Amino acid sequence: MSIQVSVPQIIQKKRDETPLTAEEIRYFVEGAVKGEIPDYQVSAFLMATYFTGMSFEETAALTLAMVESGEQYHHTNVKGPKVDKHSTGGIGDKVSLILAPLAAACGLKVPMMGGRGLGHTGGTIDKLEAIPGYRTVLEKEEFTKILQEVGCAIISQSAKIVPADRKFYALRDVTATIESVPLITSSILSKKIAEGANGLVMDIKVGNGAFMKSKTEAVTLAKTLRAVAKKSGMELRATLSNMDQPLGYSAGNAIEVYECIEVLRNETLNPYGLPSTDLRELTIHLAAQMLEVGKVVKNLAEGRKLATLKLKDGSAWKKFKDMVAAQGGDIKTLDEPWRYIHAEKIVELKANKKGYVTEMKTEELGRILIELGGGRNKVNEPIDHSVGIFFHKKLGSMIKANDTLVTIFAKKNSNLTQVETKIRECIKISATKKAAPKLIIEANVK
Ligand code: URA
Repeated sequence: MSIQVSVPQIIQKKRDETPLTAEEIRYFVEGAVKGEIPDYQVSAFLMATYFTGMSFEETAALTLAMVESGEQYHHTNVKGPKVDKHSTGGIGDKVSLILAPLAAACGLKVPMMGGRGLGHTGGTIDKLEAIPGYRTVLEKEEFTKILQEVGCAIISQSAKIVPADRKFYALRDVTATIESVPLITSSILSKKIAEGANGLVMDIKVGNGAFMKSKTEAVTLAKTLRAVAKKSGMELRATLSNMDQPLGYSAGNAIEVYECIEVLRNETLNPYGLPSTDLRELTIHLAAQMLEVGKVVKNLAEGRKLATLKLKDGSAWKKFKDMVAAQGGDIKTLDEPWRYIHAEKIVELKANKKGYVTEMKTEELGRILIELGGGRNKVNEPIDHSVGIFFHKKLGSMIKANDTLVTIFAKKNSNLTQVETKIRECIKISATKKAAPKLIIEANVK
């Protein structure tokens, strides 16, 4: 492809807020993916976009160019509505592992392409890889086959699908350019369009552990996502949910899988008897939205009822096991998950004062998890699936002297004194109770 402007001119136009044409955007994306445009120019483009934003037309053009940078899946032989869910990311957000099999048990097809940890947030693919043998990289034919036979499959992005996002995502992660509406929109939608979904439910996280810190930013993202999705013929719904505290009681790859198993099995199996009330509530809400988008039900109330039933009667749990088995995972480890905890050190951190939890610095807690070895500071860094944090207390919890605040699962060589100090700084205990925030901030952004 040849155009009139050079790469530095494209960057300059973006810097100076002159709208780019669809051809210029396509030229830039193609050049970046082929390696003809070096990373320093791609990074400069990303930073210029971060500061000056993009119009709706530019965002739509960027999304399309990213989709066309690689393979596209259509799953034409797979019958039924194909609906996916995507979260903008948070701490302890493990919803996808329960939701994909639950929605499939309710009659949807869920072709889910998950991500790895990004910035301080965790990723579905890293969590699934805590299950021994689980293959997250599948060829197109196998992905379609599992989708057809089981009803859901969760895979990672292969080198062939949306290579532009792989490139941009990795650079954004290390150049402080994640929190940008056009970059997040194109990153998410390019993958969802390429994976073959016809409908999408977005869970946009808002709060101190989310990329979107304010409701206003989250609403802008929801509206941009919906408008760009519509242009590609995809129906999109967006829920805003709270991320001022970790979701559920665990953060860390293996222990998050175990928490999901508890919800799928309707049992509390963890050694501390901690409940997963918020995780279950959000999963059922998102399932109901997916079922309505896929026209399996007429309204949300019906969707909630069906999702609750399929969780309770064990159908979602069976689907989860079928999916794990189909993707090569060892399902023996799922039946008695807590036997498989293999962290080298397990330490309980006790409260040093009485009161109520009034603040959890969630982004910071995510960074502590990375430091423990459960996430990455650099692309391709190996992670330790066994490490993590159990949150015994959440916002609004009452604390008595000597109550356990968190249990830390760590590696032998972790500096636990430092980790404990940092965790104490993240969990504020005050004398006066403050109400816990609402989990679902806005059920369906209009
Ligand atoms: N999730 C994505 O897939 N991309 C982003 O940019 C942010 C969250």
